[in-house]
Amino acid sequence: METVTFNGLTFEPYLKQDEIAKQVQRVAEEIRRDHGDDNPLFLCVLNGAAIFAADLFRACEIAGSEISFIRFKSYEGTSSTGTVKQVMGLDENIEGRTVIIVEDIVDTGVTAEQLIKVLGEKHPKTIKLASLLFKPESLKTAMRPDYIGFSIPPKFIIGYGLDIDGKARNLRDIFILQQDK
Ligand code: IMP
Ligand code: MG
Repeated sequence: METVTFNGLTFEPYLKQDEIAKQVQRVAEEIRRDHGDDNPLFLCVLNGAAIFAADLFRACEIAGSEISFIRFKSYEGTSSTGTVKQVMGLDENIEGRTVIIVEDIVDTGVTAEQLIKVLGEKHPKTIKLASLLFKPESLKTAMRPDYIGFSIPPKFIIGYGLDIDGKARNLRDIFILQQDK
């Protein structure tokens, strides 16, 4: 088994790229089934969701869909700071539109909750939340994503967009913190 090391911490293989691709395809089919005729606007939450969003957006194959990138950061190191910053980079008018927020992971759900609140004030028709990963046991809000790639235990993971202090986003597979396993 090939482990990787970041910040002196060892991570073990957890989700392989082909498993990830399979679940991305399934989520894409669910979104197309529900919103294929709605010209949805995908809002990718940077930086973590960039890799997932690029794959998901294309896999949906919805003609007339759009993608935009926003920023809403709340995390440092391996545990949530609980402080959430402002939404940045939303240039589109989302009034009356179907918005699909694309997140890498929903942990406590605090980020998603605040984001949906801010975006909701702009009167979209619908807001849906698509998250590659979901940690149901960490949830401190009612923010269960509408579309979920994987539900996972409350462990720290990296890769496929997920970082440890900015590193490891480029790993094709997802790795889990060894002492967390
Ligand atoms: P929440 O607001 O607690 O749901 O956390 C959301 C953000 O925390 C995510 O968008 C990630 O940036 C970060 N996060 C949560 N869990 C992990 C993890 O296991 N690895 C890396 N980042 C994580
Ligand atoms: Mg994130």
